[in-house]
Amino acid sequence: MQIPLINLKKQYETIKTECDKKVLDILRSANYIMGENVKAFETEFAEYIGTKHSISVANGTDALVIALKALGIGQDDEVITTPFTFFSTAESISAVGAVPVFVDVRLDTFNIDPSKIEEKITPKTKAIMPVHIFGQPCDMDEINEIAKKHNLKVIEDACQAVGAEYKGRKAGTLADIACFSFFPTKNLGCAGDGGMIITDDDDLATICKALRTHGSGENGKKAYNLLNDINEEVEEDKSTDNTIYNPLKYYNYLVGHNSRLDELQAAILRVKLTLLDEWNNKRRENAKLYNEKLKDTKIVTPYEDKNVKHVYHMYILQAEKRQEIVDYLKQRGIATGIYYPVPLHLQKAYTHLGYKLGDMPNAEYLSERTFAIPMFAELTEEEKQYIVQAIKEFGE
Ligand SMILES: Cc1ncc(COP(=O)(O)O)c(C=O)c1O
Repeated sequence: MQIPLINLKKQYETIKTECDKKVLDILRSANYIMGENVKAFETEFAEYIGTKHSISVANGTDALVIALKALGIGQDDEVITTPFTFFSTAESISAVGAVPVFVDVRLDTFNIDPSKIEEKITPKTKAIMPVHIFGQPCDMDEINEIAKKHNLKVIEDACQAVGAEYKGRKAGTLADIACFSFFPTKNLGCAGDGGMIITDDDDLATICKALRTHGSGENGKKAYNLLNDINEEVEEDKSTDNTIYNPLKYYNYLVGHNSRLDELQAAILRVKLTLLDEWNNKRRENAKLYNEKLKDTKIVTPYEDKNVKHVYHMYILQAEKRQEIVDYLKQRGIATGIYYPVPLHLQKAYTHLGYKLGDMPNAEYLSERTFAIPMFAELTEEEKQYIVQAIKEFGE
């Protein structure tokens, strides 16, 4: 049997009829940029998460960069974050000219340890960027309390946690602003790249909308006025198709980005959003079965904090003999992935920050031991049994 880490072909089969029709309709309409699907998806996503504004962008990395810029974070500012995450988290901080300051993670949840944040705060610190890693929300009450005490902004990197909850509230609604990724392998993935910024703050939303399209048009002007304390009426942009010609595009008020979600991606995401809860629940059922079946082995199963609803973007195990078990599973046709082999403070790209081995003991320990096994909604009973059997055979 061959079992991939995630089976996107199988997922596509379940939504093929609806997606194919929508994609063809868009191709025929020749309306590709900032059209009705983008608008509708933004509304539907905001309703699903429970937020006031959602601003779709080209990918999760851009979402983080634009959110940081909208908060006014830039050259030489410091942003506290976790070293146990995908590179984009810290890369976005560097991209705006700021410095990522790493704080070690909890060994059980793999998320940033709030008890270690305050010692890293300096006069240059402007924000905290917690990451809900693998789909499990961080300790947001503690993080927000520290932020409030030190007058810092909080940006949730919720790229792996669409649909996850903390104390009954959805990830993304727990801070000043939040970012999501729709990279194909994410719980809610499109057929390419995509991302979303969400916030309840009207002004931040206006600035993000301006930054995603070259600081131009209605939102560019509104953002400019906001940032320069100008009080005037701004003409509404009534266009429903920005593919060909929109005269407002050629008036630029801020230096921004070209970072839009396109109509094709938005249409596919609209179909998938209606199925997300069902898919996330299936992931949770899979995790429950894995946890139960593997509890008496030497392999460490993931911990789910009592305050959260984990959505298992990845199902992460820990093993002392990681390479041996990964090799063994490969021989049995079971795919695995190592997330993350190098904690960010030890990445070559961050040599100039001056961290050394031993600075983040928990992240370093985890990076030697963690690995993901197949996790997706369409996993069959037979596949799950095959996987746990193989792990047990190795572990016993
Ligand atoms: C935690 C985290 N942050 C940021 C990103 C960046 O998202 P994207 O790949 O859409 O740019 C990802 C995913 O790739 C991620 O997992």
